[in-house]
Amino acid sequence: MTGSDERGTSRASPTGGPTPSVAGMTVNEIPTLSLSDDVELPAIGYGVFQTAPDETVAAVTEALRVGYRHVDTAAAYGNEREVGDALRRSEVDRADVVVETKVWASDYGYDETLHAFEKASAKLGLDQIDVLILHQVAANLFDRTIEAYRALERLLADGRVRAIGVSNFPVARLERLMDATDVVPHLNQVELHPYHSQPELQAFHRQHGILTQAWSPIGGITFYPGPWGDDRRSVMQDPAIGEIAATHGVSPAQVMLRWHVQQGRSAIPKSVNPDRIRQNLDVTGFTLSADELARVDALDTGTASGPDPEREFDERQLFPIPEPEPERSGGWGPRNEAPAHRGAQAQADQQPEA
Ligand SMILES: NC(=O)c1ccc[n+]([C@@H]2O[C@H](COP(=O)([O-])OP(=O)(O)OC[C@H]3O[C@@H](n4cnc5c(N)ncnc54)[C@H](OP(=O)(O)O)[C@@H]3O)[C@@H](O)[C@H]2O)c1
Repeated sequence: MTGSDERGTSRASPTGGPTPSVAGMTVNEIPTLSLSDDVELPAIGYGVFQTAPDETVAAVTEALRVGYRHVDTAAAYGNEREVGDALRRSEVDRADVVVETKVWASDYGYDETLHAFEKASAKLGLDQIDVLILHQVAANLFDRTIEAYRALERLLADGRVRAIGVSNFPVARLERLMDATDVVPHLNQVELHPYHSQPELQAFHRQHGILTQAWSPIGGITFYPGPWGDDRRSVMQDPAIGEIAATHGVSPAQVMLRWHVQQGRSAIPKSVNPDRIRQNLDVTGFTLSADELARVDALDTGTASGPDPEREFDERQLFPIPEPEPERSGGWGPRNEAPAHRGAQAQADQQPEA
């Protein structure tokens, strides 16, 4: 397993180990992955795509309470300020949480992306963002994508961000990006679940020291409603995953998350349901055998359920990312002591970005 360091909180689990608690609650201990010189990332994080702004504070608050220490949001999700509100209200130390967000393609370009950082920083209430990545390839704008990445390099050099990367980049795009820029992306966040495990991309990542971060790690894109097609097959209903889950007395989601953890990936499951939020972090009490891992690997179809990463971006996808409301900017924790402000929920459009 990559990243054998243990961190976070834990409970007495079938695997044993220490048992610190979070505000009266206890959770399993999750391994961490080395992301950059500076950032250790818990292997299981918490995603908020399609979490409505008015649900986000409660959901992220619950996630932090039960022990998640990595939150993944994006400018395009329209809920960065609510993630920031939850972080500010939390009793968790700012230094203990890895906050990741993404620049949307309408903000690509060097100066535009520097400004996108300022927008995200103000909405999140953070003067430093832990992980900032480019959300999409934007194939028809790729020169602007490269300029955007150069801005991420600048932000990294200036200490405004601690790690940088990309999302939805196939191998050929990574190669072009790496040829044109200096810092190898610390991570690539891609669609990755048992029906689309992208072995060649993962091998390229390993070769270049890029962390593989799985979006839809429990296959949400194969079953949740949306514009992704009616002919999808839900990986959550897969018989092989169901059998493995029954063997260990866990859920299919836990089997998939355990598969990610044992294979050294970062996974960022989304849930707004407190039981499922907790369940998705509770994946250290059992171990998948080599045969079980191979059975899950064998489910790969080679086909994505989400959109083609190489698709062109037109005006419809290039919707503007709103400026922060100035009165709502405020800091969280010791890295920014400005007072927190609370106000109306963000009205930003929430668009499917996958
Ligand atoms: N970079 C990108 O382009 C991109 C694209 C998509 C996603 N992402 C990121 O990846 C995160 C996760 O991906 P995702 O949201 O697409 O899919 P996911 O986490 O694989 O699945 C989420 C879906 O599964 C349900 N669910 C959660 N836990 C469950 C459990 N234990 N048992 C059964 N159902 C469960 C959720 O419903 P409930 O909420 O009702 O539990 C939701 O419908 C996102 O939130 C976002 O941060 C990034």
